[in-house]
Amino acid sequence: MLVSMKAVLDLADAKKIAVGAFNITSLEGIQAVLGAAEELGQPVILQFAPVHESVIPLKVIGPVMVMMAEKSSVPVCVHLDHGDKLEILQEALEMGFTSVMYDGSVLPFEENAANTKIAVEMAGNWGASVEAEIGAMGRQEFSSVGEGEEGEAVESCYTDPEQARAFTALTGIDALACSFGTVHGLYLTTPKLDFDRIHRIRESIGIPIVMHGGSGVSDEDFKKCIANGVRKINYYTYLAKAGGMYVKEKCADAGEYVFFHDVTQWAVQAMKEDVLHTIKVFSHLE
Ligand code: 13P
Repeated sequence: MLVSMKAVLDLADAKKIAVGAFNITSLEGIQAVLGAAEELGQPVILQFAPVHESVIPLKVIGPVMVMMAEKSSVPVCVHLDHGDKLEILQEALEMGFTSVMYDGSVLPFEENAANTKIAVEMAGNWGASVEAEIGAMGRQEFSSVGEGEEGEAVESCYTDPEQARAFTALTGIDALACSFGTVHGLYLTTPKLDFDRIHRIRESIGIPIVMHGGSGVSDEDFKKCIANGVRKINYYTYLAKAGGMYVKEKCADAGEYVFFHDVTQWAVQAMKEDVLHTIKVFSHLE
């Protein structure tokens, strides 16, 4: 069933777990994520990031995400990830998305807060939820490995708990994406997360914290983040890698021909395995 982000985060808060938010770039991705969530009976978030517009446009995949969420046996939120323009938030809301992220993290505090406030009003008209961000996660979203020092999270960009409190009070958002040591994409060195900062931010804002850049974080670190107040975890790169690497292996073993319908099935199978493990870790099932 299609529900708001607030609804799934309330469920997560009650159980002190985190909900996995998986970026969608194909129908196979939706099948893998919903297949895993339904097998485990856990709520989940399907999200689309505009950076993937060239892979598959929002206009094409968005309505499919909403339709599949409506038909699902578990609570599913359909969320717009990293919307940096209010127009794209409006487009997603009109399509039936139940949550949007306004990402004004590169803007000065006041401008980010003012735009986020507008996003909250817009989403309110649709009964949808809003995530926003302060602090910077480092590295352009979803870029690949091999980008040198830029892959490191820069501590001076970490979210400040006091600023987070002021921002949350000003805007009325439902969840806040914070910077505490994760980056998007593949890590070049082991991430060092500031768990105490997560705790202090959560104490100061009183709403769920969102972790971006979930790929490459250890199961143990995920659990520590959740214990300190993270309730939504964004995860994509490792999901795509799991599907791609399995397809690579199967193609290498295949005979003369490879059929595309087999490729899509291999990808769903491997991505579903990855999501099953991830949801289990986020939900204290393993
Ligand atoms: P990863 O691709 O590093 O898992 O990050 C996903 C993300 O944070 C989407 O906003």
